[in-house]
Amino acid sequence: MSAHSTSEFEGRVALVTGAASGIGAAAARLFAERGARVSVIDIDASGEGTVETIRSAGGEAIFSRADVVDDGAVERAVAHTLEAFGRLDCAFNNAGISGPPHSVADMPLEQWHQGIDVMLTGVFLCMRHEIPRMLEGGGGSIVNCASGAALIGFPGQAAYVASKHGVLGLTKTAAVEYGSRGVLINAICPGTARTAMVESVIAETPELLEELHRLHPIGRIAEPAEIAEAALWLCSGRASFVMGSALVVDGGYVAQ
Ligand SMILES: NC(=O)c1ccc[n+]([C@@H]2O[C@H](COP(=O)([O-])OP(=O)(O)OC[C@H]3O[C@@H](n4cnc5c(N)ncnc54)[C@H](O)[C@@H]3O)[C@@H](O)[C@H]2O)c1
Repeated sequence: MSAHSTSEFEGRVALVTGAASGIGAAAARLFAERGARVSVIDIDASGEGTVETIRSAGGEAIFSRADVVDDGAVERAVAHTLEAFGRLDCAFNNAGISGPPHSVADMPLEQWHQGIDVMLTGVFLCMRHEIPRMLEGGGGSIVNCASGAALIGFPGQAAYVASKHGVLGLTKTAAVEYGSRGVLINAICPGTARTAMVESVIAETPELLEELHRLHPIGRIAEPAEIAEAALWLCSGRASFVMGSALVVDGGYVAQ
């Protein structure tokens, strides 16, 4: 793989959902550092913070507060992107949530629906509005955020695991539907990254951090930017023959 250039995304517009924190915020900043104008989307108003960080470093970004489960809100956020920047080249559909552990028979129905809604229907709704705009612009790249939990089961996390497995099926289907028209669609499967989602669990059970280091053969968990790098590579021209893939970015977790 050749090294990226700092202007790799010059002239391009990148949209990132769940960009208020963690992997999404890291991806938004990296896109901007490499020349993209960035559309930051999040249900949390602190997405403004990501925009301020990008602007204070000399980049261009806008924020849309939107719930990815709300079709109209997603449509407006994508329209806002087009109004501000005139095109859409890259999308990283990354918003996600975690939930307390419950085995299948004990999982509250609400938790099941919420997990499937945010992480599977949310990705579907985003692509539903992103793909037509990319086709109008002559093509684009979409990366959907799955997980190591898209490849193996995790006790207590049925909604999360099922939604992430679903993201891979959705990604492959969309990829074969639109690849010949210039929209390249892939997924990434991150291992554990040091984000709010993980910090909150570690805060409750500090000994879990050692266990997480041990579970990743590389000997540690990831920094959010290490996961974001994979999403950016898939959006770059350097991944021009990669389509319908599930790129594992996990320090060897699922290989073990
Ligand atoms: N951190 C990890 O170890 C890890 C591992 C594998 C996969 N992932 C996946 O990476 C993605 C990002 O996770 P993270 O760890 O950066 O978490 P995070 O909690 O730091 O960030 C998630 C972001 O998504 C936003 N969000 C949640 N629900 C939303 C909704 N309905 N609409 C719009 N935005 C919403 C949150 O406000 C937050 O800013 C998720 O899809 C997660 O499942 C994370």
